[in-house]
Amino acid sequence: MADEDKREVDAYSGVDTTGHEWDGIKELDNPLPRWWLWIFYASIAWAVVYMVFMPAVPAPPGFDGHTRGLRDHSERANVAQAMNDLQAQRGPLFDRLQQAADTGGIEAIENDPELLNFALAAGESAFGDNCSTCHGRGAQGAIGYPNLNDDVWLWGGSFEAIRQTLHVGIRWEDNPDTRFSQMPAYGRDGILSREEISAVADHVMALADMIEPTEAGNTTGREIFELQCSACHGVNGLGDQTQGAPNLTDRVWLYGSDEAQIENTIWRGPYGVMPAWEDRLGEETITALAAYVYLLGGGERSAFSEAALDGAHQASEAGR
Ligand code: HEC
Ligand code: HEC
Repeated sequence: MADEDKREVDAYSGVDTTGHEWDGIKELDNPLPRWWLWIFYASIAWAVVYMVFMPAVPAPPGFDGHTRGLRDHSERANVAQAMNDLQAQRGPLFDRLQQAADTGGIEAIENDPELLNFALAAGESAFGDNCSTCHGRGAQGAIGYPNLNDDVWLWGGSFEAIRQTLHVGIRWEDNPDTRFSQMPAYGRDGILSREEISAVADHVMALADMIEPTEAGNTTGREIFELQCSACHGVNGLGDQTQGAPNLTDRVWLYGSDEAQIENTIWRGPYGVMPAWEDRLGEETITALAAYVYLLGGGERSAFSEAALDGAHQASEAGR
């Protein structure tokens, strides 16, 4: 036979060659190893069984994406089920939390250890999902974004005040009840000259005990402050929470503490914006968040007590 004639046996191993040859190297016609073949066949068998029982074959659009398989297994349905279970488990606690907050305020929550733990856990997780992008993982804040761990509050640090801030947002134009106030842009809008801004910044920094009073600060600066700034920040610079006007004497600075930053703030008129959360989060979640934020800083105790301010100052130093 012609084929027989072409047979070529490798002299060294005694195995037939396939007839393929590259640069003098010839391919031997060894059979596939048995163990390899068995794994190969087993894989095929497994694939067939898998296709029958599990979702596998892509289906055309409109047919739920894929065949469902005999086991009717669906990761998506499993996740939905798990969410429902979680909701069912948490629902009653959320209801209790809401009730306690509405009737007894933060004290009612603090006096119920189970509720307190739940509020902290739910608040922390909602904070990570919604707030940490701006306020930081540990709520330590950044330039323009307040530190929520300290006892220094723009709009009030009572449980109710925090709840209200979260509901309506700050300078959030889509919400008719949003917290609102606007410091003029003294430089940009030509109300004060560079020299006047520098003088009033001197006065502000002296109020905060950060520099020795200067000549310009004590005369021009003080005069401008009383005329232009005291309506919001108070004659002594202690601020006004009804207008979100910060205390300028506590050495906690939202927009930076060096002279250039303070002058720049006065020049441009700061305008911090926070979304209204009542449009995005449920009432119970806002309550849990308010409790979490309130308890972060121990809430507002006596706003101007030395101890609170010292603590706030340290926290703010550590956070920035
Ligand atoms: C898009 C950025 C952004 C996000 C997200 C955000 N905040 Fe704020 N938040 C701000 C800014 C900016 C301010 C300061 C506004 C101002 O200058 O008056 C603020 C202020 C606050 C205040 C008032 C602090 C005070 O001193 O009175 C609280 C409380 C607060 N945020 C809590 C939260 C919580 C809780 C969340 C998550 C649900 C959140 N924030 C999400 C930007 C944000
Ligand atoms: C209409 C009310 C209003 C007036 C008038 C006003 N401010 Fe303000 N000021 C605010 C508010 C509100 C903020 C906080 C804005 C924010 O959070 O974005 C602020 C913030 C500041 C800050 C930043 C504080 C920080 O923590 O970084 C400085 C500094 C300041 N004001 C100085 C002045 C000086 C000086 C004047 C007068 C020349 C003045 N303000 C007049 C309302 C006012």
